Amino acid sequence: AAQFAVFGHPIAHSLSPQIHQAFARQFGIALEYRTIDAAPAEFAASVRRFFAAGGRGANVTLPHKAAAFELADERSEAAVRVGTANVLTPLPDGRLAAHNTDGAGLVRDLTERHRMDLRGHDALLLGAGGAARGVAWSLLDAGVRTLTIVNRTPETADALADAIGEPARAHTRYWEDLDDIGSFDLIINATSAGVLGKPLDLPFGFVGNRATCYDLSYGKAAAGFVAWARAANALYAFDGLGMLVETAADAFELWHGKRPDTDPVHDALRRQYG
Ligand code: ATR
Repeated sequence: AAQFAVFGHPIAHSLSPQIHQAFARQFGIALEYRTIDAAPAEFAASVRRFFAAGGRGANVTLPHKAAAFELADERSEAAVRVGTANVLTPLPDGRLAAHNTDGAGLVRDLTERHRMDLRGHDALLLGAGGAARGVAWSLLDAGVRTLTIVNRTPETADALADAIGEPARAHTRYWEDLDDIGSFDLIINATSAGVLGKPLDLPFGFVGNRATCYDLSYGKAAAGFVAWARAANALYAFDGLGMLVETAADAFELWHGKRPDTDPVHDALRRQYG
């Protein structure tokens, strides 16, 4: 069977093998999909070994997304603007192509699964690291009216706003000003605080009365932000499980040329992981 893998460090608890096998069953495709734990110093060599042995596609997660972008020979437009990659695909001549499907996955989860129309929304992006960059452009493409980027380290937020280069739509504010920054319709937590097990301690005031709050992570890492959003009376509080399934669907389509039905896979994971 064709070989696929997800590279990360750590990676043991990745849901990607289960998601890709569930997609493959929808089409009667037989594939092997494993996790490969590679320390950063080993990542590039490990990827090259995988593809030299006939690997047909790889997903890449923390902390390797920037390295995956660097080692590729060709890069999709979405990967270039974000500067990282979560999908590697071998080209017929043996070179590697990098894609980034994170932003598209988030937007599809919001607009199709949760039936949101993002046009005209004022969005707040908490964080300006890799995860935040991964979704910023896609939110603007999907029509959010403004994107306010707030990061603990303001220079990183400014660098992201500069890279976007649409000052009328995408701008930064200071983390210390979250108390009196106005209110937002869509609040995206792209910080790694939850993953690191650290509290975020956010004020409630910027949660608009019909606000959707969304954490890009899922499971335990998202629990603190989701609980905060409910306490702040957000209309909706979502974790990123749906985004994970949608980004996997994009990778699956790149590799197999077929669009899987994500809803049953998402619903099964939701039942399994709460
Ligand atoms: P990722 O790939 O998960 O985005 P990253 O690129 O290291 O990881 O970015 C982590 C983001 O979470 C950054 O925006 C970081 O803020 P700093 O730039 O100030 O480091 C943010 N972050 C991490 N821990 C945080 C905390 N306890 N409070 C607020 N922001 C935090």
